[in-house]
Amino acid sequence: MSATDRPRGGHQPSRCRVCKEPAVIDLPRHNANFCADHFLELCRRQVTKAIERFGMLAPGERVLVAVSGGKDSLALWDLLTDLGVEADGLYVGLGIGDYSDTSGEHARRFARERGLVLTEIDLRDEYGYDVPTAAVATGRVPCSACGLSKRHLFDRAARDGGYPVVATGHNLDDEAAVLYGNTLRWDVEMLARQLPVLPARAGFPRKVKPLVRLTERETAAWCLVRGIDYLVEECPMSVGNKHLGYKEALNRLEAESPGAKAAFYLGFLDRMAPLLADRAAQAVDGLERCLRCGAPTTSEICAFCRLVERTAGHGPVPVELALARGRR
Ligand code: AMP
Ligand code: FES
Ligand code: ZN
Ligand code: ZN
Repeated sequence: MSATDRPRGGHQPSRCRVCKEPAVIDLPRHNANFCADHFLELCRRQVTKAIERFGMLAPGERVLVAVSGGKDSLALWDLLTDLGVEADGLYVGLGIGDYSDTSGEHARRFARERGLVLTEIDLRDEYGYDVPTAAVATGRVPCSACGLSKRHLFDRAARDGGYPVVATGHNLDDEAAVLYGNTLRWDVEMLARQLPVLPARAGFPRKVKPLVRLTERETAAWCLVRGIDYLVEECPMSVGNKHLGYKEALNRLEAESPGAKAAFYLGFLDRMAPLLADRAAQAVDGLERCLRCGAPTTSEICAFCRLVERTAGHGPVPVELALARGRR
């Protein structure tokens, strides 16, 4: 366990709320401490609750888990497998220098050690570009080309592999930060679509986020207790990303009022999202199929095919150069 996950307090070790054995983690938002076994049990319960409450998975459904090699997606893959879900992995090589090399190694090792199936797609090998190159070729922030590529390839891999559902490792901190940003701008379209389940459409899979009831600290602790070796470094291209600032702001709030983050996000899902359901349905209604690849799109050619076209023939751009251009 890391220092932050060790029990607080003076000479008296804190005790597990359930069995009264020494605790390994304190969770102020639950106003309780837990031993390793009961902490894992709490995580399983939170994930099961999210799956059931939002109708994420039907019994026996095969799931494609998008794994980045980081704590959230590896914890998700481990949790789903642990809960008896048939879950295979998908890793997308984004070509972000050493960061991508190391993240791929973590995903591969996790799969190999557990005998799980991992599909890999490499952006440069298969589509002729990578994220730094796309950022320079389009003049947009790297995260935008990266997100667009990942969403498209998750869909396509699920369709090709016959998976009805794709699961990603977005956690409570991620979702609360995005919600905070969307609320600050009152971006009603984005708010309407900010759901932990996006329904299947036009032959493409359902998208689910089973970790929305677990925080970042909890998924990291799951990995530590379960002995999962994950990539700790953040993506070098995410420097200056607004969501990191939103996360910090919410963490300050959480430190003063434990439970505030969960109340903000889960309260939105319970009380606000239903009021926006019509808007969410309208966004799906207007979709056509891309003339080149068949993906759902609002124009004739989808954004992914346009990105592939724009980056064609562009030589590889090193991460440092893409970052320097982005700062100008
Ligand atoms: P991010 O967009 O980096 O915050 O990641 C959100 C989720 O997308 C992760 O929890 C993973 O489920 C998935 N993901 C991110 N990067 C990759 C990748 N390179 N390959 C496959 N899935 C990924
Ligand atoms: Fe996508 Fe960093 S992981 S830009
Ligand atoms: Zn216990
Ligand atoms: Zn297309």
